[in-house]
Amino acid sequence: MVNISLVRKSNLDFKLSGHASSLVAVFVGATSGIGLGTLKQYAKYAQGSKAYIIGRSKSATQPLLDRLQESNPTGTFEFIQTEVSLIKNVDLACEEIKAKEKKVDILFLSPGFLAWGGRIESTEGIDVPHALRYYSRLRFAYNLLPLLTESPSPRVISILAGGKESAIDLNDLEVHNDFTFAKAAANGTTQTTLAFEELAKSYPSVTFIHKYPGFVDTGVIGRFLSTITGPLAIPATVAKWAILPIVNWFSMTIDEAGERGLFLATSARYPPSKPKTDFVGVELPQGLEVANTSVIKDGVSNGVYRLGSLDDSAPDGDVLPGYRLDNVGKTVWEETQAVWDRAISRAA
Ligand SMILES: NC(=O)c1ccc[n+]([C@@H]2O[C@H](COP(=O)([O-])OP(=O)(O)OC[C@H]3O[C@@H](n4cnc5c(N)ncnc54)[C@H](OP(=O)(O)O)[C@@H]3O)[C@@H](O)[C@H]2O)c1
Repeated sequence: MVNISLVRKSNLDFKLSGHASSLVAVFVGATSGIGLGTLKQYAKYAQGSKAYIIGRSKSATQPLLDRLQESNPTGTFEFIQTEVSLIKNVDLACEEIKAKEKKVDILFLSPGFLAWGGRIESTEGIDVPHALRYYSRLRFAYNLLPLLTESPSPRVISILAGGKESAIDLNDLEVHNDFTFAKAAANGTTQTTLAFEELAKSYPSVTFIHKYPGFVDTGVIGRFLSTITGPLAIPATVAKWAILPIVNWFSMTIDEAGERGLFLATSARYPPSKPKTDFVGVELPQGLEVANTSVIKDGVSNGVYRLGSLDDSAPDGDVLPGYRLDNVGKTVWEETQAVWDRAISRAA
């Protein structure tokens, strides 16, 4: 476990390091929750840096943008208004960033929501929550890799459920059959890790982090319970008003989740497989070591980290070793590209 005091020390060292002011970060899903917590810490510690914030409503986000600017007067905070569950919108947002930037250092991905019931199909034919947790996030990563590889220490961070991978139906990765929100969420988790491992093979100078945040008091569970209808609506309402407040009492604050988010984005604890330069992040404080990657072959780590809530590497689990032997990552990656192609052709 990484103690929060070490996280704070590292973030302070980052602020004083001289690297902070030159950073360019892209935040998707940072208008609330863990992404917002991380964006606030980024603004606080990376004085003079730049951030793109991609979200649904500029007018709703304007007060936040004003506060970020106040906390970082020399920084630049640019909002791109779009609905990121559509792949074509992800492409347009990335084009806008590519036209303005020569590099991206941090891509922080945390959009999403949980909803009871059946598939909520987008006009591109993808279940919207599944797009937000996986297909759109990976499209951002894929599109921005040319800019990420220009950074001395690039990071792609997806806040989802690293370490919770489970068996998936390789013939139904989009979950068209027997859909449940839990099945789709489980698929997205395993897809994320396998896709990151595939990307890391081609982009060894990039760090890929898939993190399970634990319970963070963002309201995500309450909003989910509100979507439950039918006979389960009554127990869901009881859970929302009677049990959830107790759970929230023990959950992590958004501020701490944000401090940890910035730590993942900047610490030398998470180097890529083949760093481009000697700089792989803020030097480790005493008492911390480099984390274990998801694969270490012939002494070489793959630059992919599956992390738990306190930023330790998760054990390998039951399914991933067999999936790697069977080259399932390639299947997942090919299916991902096919889904993108279908989405784009529908949007045209
Ligand atoms: N919080 C936890 O305890 C917890 C635990 C395990 C895993 N996770 C996962 O971690 C991720 C982040 O969680 P969080 O609690 O920080 O979430 P959150 O507070 O609910 O924030 C979600 C973000 O997703 C965006 N979003 C929601 N619906 C959208 C839509 N239809 N189109 C575009 N954007 C949409 C929101 O934008 P708007 O501001 O426009 O609504 C917001 O920026 C999620 O994938 C969640 O499932 C969270």
